[in-house]
Amino acid sequence: MSARRQSVSISAPLSISPSGQASILSTSPTLATSPQGGYSSFSQSYEARRAALGGSIPFPQAGKALSPFPQHEANETRILLLENVNTSAVDMLKAQGWHVEEVKKALDEEELIARLKDGGFSAVGIRSKTKITAKVISEVPSLLVIGCFCIGTNQVDLLAAAKAGIAVFNSPFSNSRSVAELVISEVVALSRQLCDRAREMREGIWNKVSKGCWEVRGKTLGIVGYGHIGSQLSVLAEAMGMKVIYYDVLPIMPLGSAQQVESMEDFLGQADFVTLHVPELPETTNLIRAEQIAQMKDGSYLINNARGKVVDIPALIDGLKSGKLAGAAVDVFPAEPKANGPNFGDALNDWSSELRSCPNLILTPHIGGSTEEAQSMIGAEVGGAVIRYLNFGSTIGAVNFPEVNLRPILHEGTVRLCHVHLNQPGVLKTVNAILGEHNVEKQFSDSKRARTDSFSPRAGDVAYLLADITNVDEAEIKEIYNAIAGSRHNIATRMLF
Ligand SMILES: NC(=O)c1ccc[n+]([C@@H]2O[C@H](COP(=O)([O-])OP(=O)(O)OC[C@H]3O[C@@H](n4cnc5c(N)ncnc54)[C@H](O)[C@@H]3O)[C@@H](O)[C@H]2O)c1
Repeated sequence: MSARRQSVSISAPLSISPSGQASILSTSPTLATSPQGGYSSFSQSYEARRAALGGSIPFPQAGKALSPFPQHEANETRILLLENVNTSAVDMLKAQGWHVEEVKKALDEEELIARLKDGGFSAVGIRSKTKITAKVISEVPSLLVIGCFCIGTNQVDLLAAAKAGIAVFNSPFSNSRSVAELVISEVVALSRQLCDRAREMREGIWNKVSKGCWEVRGKTLGIVGYGHIGSQLSVLAEAMGMKVIYYDVLPIMPLGSAQQVESMEDFLGQADFVTLHVPELPETTNLIRAEQIAQMKDGSYLINNARGKVVDIPALIDGLKSGKLAGAAVDVFPAEPKANGPNFGDALNDWSSELRSCPNLILTPHIGGSTEEAQSMIGAEVGGAVIRYLNFGSTIGAVNFPEVNLRPILHEGTVRLCHVHLNQPGVLKTVNAILGEHNVEKQFSDSKRARTDSFSPRAGDVAYLLADITNVDEAEIKEIYNAIAGSRHNIATRMLF
């Protein structure tokens, strides 16, 4: 049983203003348990938060505003944001009345531990460069939630976080539109050999040709992977008069007039443009290799904005140099440079210079999702998820926790139990014995089996239970808390009131 967040005491009721200042209230307290022990109070109303946000709450959670989460001794929720997290998130988090500290760069392990410990931070926001290791997690017991303001979560030890009761959120799909738009631009640019003509002009060469240059209207776009990006792309391509076909391992309802094709071989034989939008999985490694390129139409185009290992690049080089393919666009590579600069050479991928010499080839440095809009949406999505977790206990969108949510609390005198516990037999019997004397208005729990394979975004042998208990007074809340947090399955317990 973890020793995290177990001791409890009652403190005076406090109100936290949007600026983060606490003041003592004389009205009945709102309660939360603190990592260091001690209930603290947070009675900033839903209306006050609405006002602080200019009249709107940017996350769909109506009902009574709950105490945000266990407060540290300063009775203030503290969040550390690293690596220039977008202002959309910073503004949203500050509007909660929380103390938000920003650091422009990534911190190394020791710096991060020191900063988080010294600041008593309960939440940390990172992008892709900061590593949250098992050591960081074990040395910062105040941590409740990690917001990854980016797509991936490889930089976080998800299993260690889950076992410590720390929820991790990210934003996997906020840049879908940006990728879809890039593909549309590439379809047109490849079709008109735009990049070769533009490069020649920069070299002072006037080369006015129409041979091998086409309109995209009436051509067939073949989408491999009809998920978030593929389906948006489908709509955009049809708006330009293209015919859309797609291949996916799942049967997926088409948008517009798009048509799913059952066999990959049939699909490849029909498409003028093949664009890839599948995840990186063992079965998508080298999904497009010499055999598939041979099955594509003569003079067709290949576009890869998905993952670098999905295409066998030497086979692509052969396809372009032989004229089988009329062009290609590649945004992602099996190995990618760690920093900007002249780093895309043969030392990284031994075919690099050969690839760069191919005709009608657009190479871009993994910028498919890199737009201002995507960054802003990532900020809002992850910021909102962190707020919902701390204020309401919701784990919808968490990558390492089961996804659990309850409808809002509407009445005074109701407390929400947020109980992260070991995924073991007998937990519900214990919890229900403790709650049995009370009126449990609603309750929901779910669990995740430990999965440590690198392709699983979810990890952690952890279960999470939310329960709303009505008509409880302060003494009863304390009693429930002590019993639950003291149970042998407990990982982390909070009470939101
Ligand atoms: N270039 C960039 O900057 C950038 C940005 C965002 C996403 N991506 C990448 O784009 C890809 C697609 O992202 P998404 O958000 O649309 O993913 P998604 O999960 O929404 O959709 C993926 C689709 O691929 C299908 N699929 C899985 N295996 C398949 C297979 N073997 N054959 C055919 N279909 C298969 C799935 O059923 C699903 O419909 C991912 O690899 C992602 O990492 C790249």
